[in-house]
Amino acid sequence: MTVILGLTGGIATGKSTVSSYLKKLGYPVVDADQIAREIVQPGTIVADQLRTIFRDAIFDGAKLNRNRLGKIVFGSSVQLQKLNAVMQPAIRTKILQTLKAEKKESTKLIVLDAPLLLEQGYQKFVDQIMVVVSDANVQRERLIRRDGFSKKEAEQRITAQWSLEKKISFADIVIDNSGSIEETRQQVVKWLDNSKLR
Ligand SMILES: Nc1ncnc2c1ncn2[C@@H]1O[C@H](COP(=O)(O)OP(=O)(O)OP(=O)(O)O)[C@@H](O)[C@H]1O
Ligand SMILES: [Mg+2]
Repeated sequence: MTVILGLTGGIATGKSTVSSYLKKLGYPVVDADQIAREIVQPGTIVADQLRTIFRDAIFDGAKLNRNRLGKIVFGSSVQLQKLNAVMQPAIRTKILQTLKAEKKESTKLIVLDAPLLLEQGYQKFVDQIMVVVSDANVQRERLIRRDGFSKKEAEQRITAQWSLEKKISFADIVIDNSGSIEETRQQVVKWLDNSKLR
C-alpha cells in the first residue's frame, strides 16, 4: 500500500526544506509550486487567461513576471481570488494526474508538497497530513531574508494564508522547524521509522 503524505505549513516555515530532504532519501515528491510554475509557461492556456485578467503589465514579453503579479494579488483579496479561480483548478488537475502516475510505481511513500493543501481541500487525496511550522518571528525573519520583502509585505503574505494553529488542527504529524535543519531532519526520520516507511 502506498502512503500519500500531504506536506504543508505556512509560507517559509520549511516545507521545501523537508520535501527536499525526503526527496534526497529517495521518495517521489509532487511539488505543487513547481506545477504552478509549469502551467503558466509561455503559450499555455492559463498564461493566456492571466493576460486577459491582469493585462500585459504582469508579463515581460511572453514570460509571466511572478514578482509583479505577487505585488498585485497580495495587496488585494479580490485580485487574489481572481488569480486562484484560474490557477487552482489547473493545479489540481495536474496534481491528480501526477499522483496517479506515481502510484503506479508502487512506492511506499509519495509526498505531495502543497502550501495550500488544506485551503484547497486536498485532504481527501492524501492519507496523512504533515504540517511544518516555525515560531512566528523565525518565520517572518526567514521570509524577509529569503525574498527580500519588507516587514509589511511579509505580513501580507503570512496573513493571506490560514493561521498555523488552524493548520495544526488538521495535522497527523507536526514538524517544528524553528531550530536547526538537523533537528528538523531528525523529526522526519523519527516519523519515517515509527511509520515503518524506511
Ligand atoms: N531550520 C532552518 N534553519 C535556518 N534556515 C532555514 C531553516 N529551514 C528553512 N530555512 C530557510 O528559510 C527559508 C524558507 O524555507 P523553505 O523554502 O524550506 O520554506 P517553504 O515553507 O518551502 O517556503 P514557501 O512557503 O515559500 O514554499 C529558506 O531560505 C530556507 O533556506
Ligand atoms: Mg517551498
